[in-house]
This record gives sequence, structure tokens and C-alpha cells, in this order.
Amino acid sequence: MKVIIDLDEKKVLLAGDGKDQAFDLYSKEAFAEVADLWVRLGWVRKYSYGFSWLGRPIIQLPDDMIRIQEAICEVRPDIIVETGIAHGGSLVFYASLFEMLGKGHVIGLDIDIRPHNREAIEKHPMFKRITMLEGSSIAPEIVAKVKSLIKPTDKVMLILDSNHSKEHVTAELEAYSDIVTPGSYILSQDGVMKLVAGMPRTKPDWDWNNPIGANEEFLARHPEFELKHPPRPFDETSQTPECSHHPVGWMRRKP
Ligand SMILES: C[S@@+](CC[C@H](N)C(=O)[O-])C[C@H]1O[C@@H](n2cnc3c(N)ncnc32)[C@H](O)[C@@H]1O
Repeated sequence: MKVIIDLDEKKVLLAGDGKDQAFDLYSKEAFAEVADLWVRLGWVRKYSYGFSWLGRPIIQLPDDMIRIQEAICEVRPDIIVETGIAHGGSLVFYASLFEMLGKGHVIGLDIDIRPHNREAIEKHPMFKRITMLEGSSIAPEIVAKVKSLIKPTDKVMLILDSNHSKEHVTAELEAYSDIVTPGSYILSQDGVMKLVAGMPRTKPDWDWNNPIGANEEFLARHPEFELKHPPRPFDETSQTPECSHHPVGWMRRKP
């Protein structure tokens, strides 16, 4: 497959894979192709590993962070449960948004909370809005503990960012989807694995062993959920394609 960006002719040309096409350089379609390539090359270059939030490293594309912020602002959850803490930047991100919104608490789970990360997160001013639990996100005792921390009246959002194998994501979806309240979302992250399969910094089975397959099968089993990206509250771009690591990742519990 070739992608040719011809600045003289003002065209983006795709050749190969039965997909010979030419787009005007300034068209939405050309932008989508170039953005897709940018996301995939950025994966290889670890572009999403270059950011922090309020002093903690966060492993996200900034575009995805803004979209998550929009979803939080729309839903105003009382609780976000996130699997996968790493350095804690995403926990601090949600907690700081909750601080500005005047309510909300984050429950973060990780199979291995490194002591230096734990210490830094516990010292952070936003820790007052964070609870961390250590263990596998699908261990029955962890699932039970998370559920014990949620009140029946709480609005809950779920973000999956731990082990992204199809099997693990499926198990997480089945373990936690019932806590997600109507009108709120699950964000099952890193569907980008499917898009980057075969490139450096990937594993050979990523073409099928990724969150997208888990999400699609979950949706087929759970008609109470629908594939639905949070609406853009502001968009003068005629729905410019997303630059995201989370394609096919937003699932809304139908209101
Ligand atoms: C991509 S990092 C999380 C990044 C973080 N959410 C952020 O945005 O900055 C993935 C984390 O998932 C954790 N993890 C892997 N398998 C897990 C499991 N079975 N249960 C819980 N956490 C797991 C890893 O230890 C790692 O810290």
C-alpha cells in the first residue's frame, strides 16, 4: 500500500490493496488518510508517552484526553472506575476535572502499582478524589471491592486501560458493565492495536487480539449498550475525523 502526498498536484493518492484512489489534498478524505497514518506512525514513535497532567505522566493522546473531558462534562459522573493506573496521570486528570466540577471520585485499579508511582499519587493534591486498588481488574475480590465502593445512586463511567487482550477486555466488560449507569459510557481503550498490527512495537496477533473484537462482541451480547461516541459540544469542522487511540471504544448505556 502506498500513500503519496503530492503537494504539487495537491492530491493524496492511495495505491495498492485494491484501493487506488485520489483525493484532493484539502479534502476531508485526504485529511482522514494522513491522520490515520499520523496516528499509526505516532504509535511506533511512542508519541502518547510524551505528556503529563499536573505533574504525573499520562499515556494518552491529547486529543483523546479532550474527548474524555467532554464526556465527563456531559455525563457528570459521581464515580469513574479506571482499570490501568501506570504513573497515575489519567487518575489525576479525571480527579482534577472532578475538582473543578465540584464532585466526583476516581477508583483506579492496577495489577502492579509501583511504589514510586503510589507514593507520588498519594502525595498529589488530587489524591483526595482517588482510591487505588491493587490486583487484577478481573479478580473476583477486586470486582467485589469496586462495587462495594459505589452507591446505588451514583452515576458511573468506566474506562478500560489495563491488559488490552481480547480475552481480558471481554472479562472486564462482563465484570463491570453493570455498574455503568444509563446515559453514561464505557471507554474501552486502545483499539488502535488493530490499526497498527504488523508495525514495529506490536505483537503478531494484534490483528485479532485487540479490544475492538471484544467491544463488538460485547455490544452484540448487550443490547442495553450502543456504540456511540460522546457528541462534540463544539465542532465547526464538519466532523473532522478523530485522531484517536480508541476507535470503536466508546459504548453508551442507552438512557
Ligand atoms: C497503559 S497503562 C495505563 C495508563 C494510564 N491509564 C494512563 O492513561 O496514563 C496499563 C496498566 O495496566 C496495568 N495492568 C496490566 N494488566 C492488568 C490487569 N490484569 N489488571 C489491572 N491492571 C493491569 C499495567 O500494570 C499498567 O500499569
